[in-house]
Amino acid sequence: MASAQTSGDWMLVAAFDFGTTYSGYAFSLRDKPTMIQTNQAWNAGSEALVSLKTPTCVLLNPQKEFVAFGVEAEDKYLSLVEQGQHKPWMLFRRFKMMLHNNDGLNRNATVDDITGKKMPAMTIFEMSIRYLRDHLVDALKKQVDGIHESDILYVLTVPSIWNDAARQFMHEAAVMAGLASDRIKLALEPEAASVWCQHISSSFNADISKPGTQYMVVDLGGGTADISVHEKKFDTTLREIHKASGGPWGGTCVDQNFINWLTNIFGESTMSRFREEEMEGYFELLREFETKKRTITPDTDGPVTFRIPIVLRSIHDETIKRNLEQMKLTDEVALQGDKLRVAANIVRSWFSESIENTTQHMINLLSESKLINVSTILLVGGYGECKLVQDSVTKKIRNKNIIIPQEAGLVVLKGAVRFGHLSRLITSRVIKHRHGCVSEDANILTGYENESVLDGVFKSCA
Ligand SMILES: Nc1ncnc2c1ncn2[C@@H]1O[C@H](COP(=O)(O)OP(=O)(O)OP(=O)(O)O)[C@@H](O)[C@H]1O
Ligand SMILES: [Mg+2]
Repeated sequence: MASAQTSGDWMLVAAFDFGTTYSGYAFSLRDKPTMIQTNQAWNAGSEALVSLKTPTCVLLNPQKEFVAFGVEAEDKYLSLVEQGQHKPWMLFRRFKMMLHNNDGLNRNATVDDITGKKMPAMTIFEMSIRYLRDHLVDALKKQVDGIHESDILYVLTVPSIWNDAARQFMHEAAVMAGLASDRIKLALEPEAASVWCQHISSSFNADISKPGTQYMVVDLGGGTADISVHEKKFDTTLREIHKASGGPWGGTCVDQNFINWLTNIFGESTMSRFREEEMEGYFELLREFETKKRTITPDTDGPVTFRIPIVLRSIHDETIKRNLEQMKLTDEVALQGDKLRVAANIVRSWFSESIENTTQHMINLLSESKLINVSTILLVGGYGECKLVQDSVTKKIRNKNIIIPQEAGLVVLKGAVRFGHLSRLITSRVIKHRHGCVSEDANILTGYENESVLDGVFKSCA
């Protein structure tokens, strides 16, 4: 198969989604744009997590060279910890969250590894993008006959709250990772979700692809709950009718509550000793929690069991007993051998803060007069798969259609692929009708400043 010769003549669209907690890629061929494939094998070699994305995690060796990404990076780091050799290495986790907090994201921004060592954020993003690109190209070579790297249009997702500088930063990191500038597009995360739900919504009672439909996109990720409101327009494009809002109410809020709760029981000094000296056990506990938290439903009955590492068990039983008494938890928590059994209502309470804040924020938005016509809510993102979240939203928001797509955690990624195909069509239509009016910037940075992904292409030519 010949490689693409002209701009816009892509054979395949691939999307990269860097989440706070998980990242991944997906792709589909131009001829079968909705048959989107994701990598199925991130977790080979690790039984702990079942996910179609891999943890957003980068490992560098003492020479500051890239060694591994995702679950592989975590596993490798843990084996270095076991051998006591990890100190000069660097493990970067959740680095996107640090950029959220960084008002002036620019070329000099830095991110910290888990022990506080700094590296330029640009380098870490560049390495991550290069890794996903290489992984993708290797997978494609096995699957698609005669594919060339130049046949691929890349879409990278960015949070809608990122400013122009942050978006430019992402584009530059992609170019530094070796992606050709004219084959990169950025898609805003809620708009990518919206594009995918346009595609699937006809199979639900609420068809959001009907012109005039207004709907809310609620993306519950690892770090944040991001809420946007879109309207499908008569010319088939999308319009953002309320600026993105939300808060730090993603799935990691639950993890943090779990850790805080353990700290109250075992004491601050034991927990910090555990975190620092028994890093392997600490990681294991977090991984176990990641799997367990996905099983909790409104109906979960009986105690939930966690395996407690040796260092936590080594503190005096009396101390734990006293703390449990003080917390009035003696009936709800039992420590037996290496098992900590916790009543289900306590476990559910770790979810409450994020769920209540998110649901209340949605209710507040829906009561705004300009959003009176919003008929449908799309619940997406990994944390959107949580049954407790779904239960709260469906019980507290009664008069709206609520769409929860299958594999909600992959919706942004799939939508980004779809977006790449659609923008190709639209870009070529615009070029055909208004020859030469699509600027390179418009082609790269779509979805700008409250304009929709697809609008952005049109508007920039108007
Ligand atoms: N079935 C489930 N039940 C509860 N929580 C879940 C479930 N599936 C995933 N999660 C949680 O969802 C979060 C990950 O969601 P997602 O992959 O959408 O986040 P992200 O894209 O990394 O983050 P962000 O969009 O905030 O940058 C994690 O905190 C994970 O524990
Ligand atoms: Mg996300």
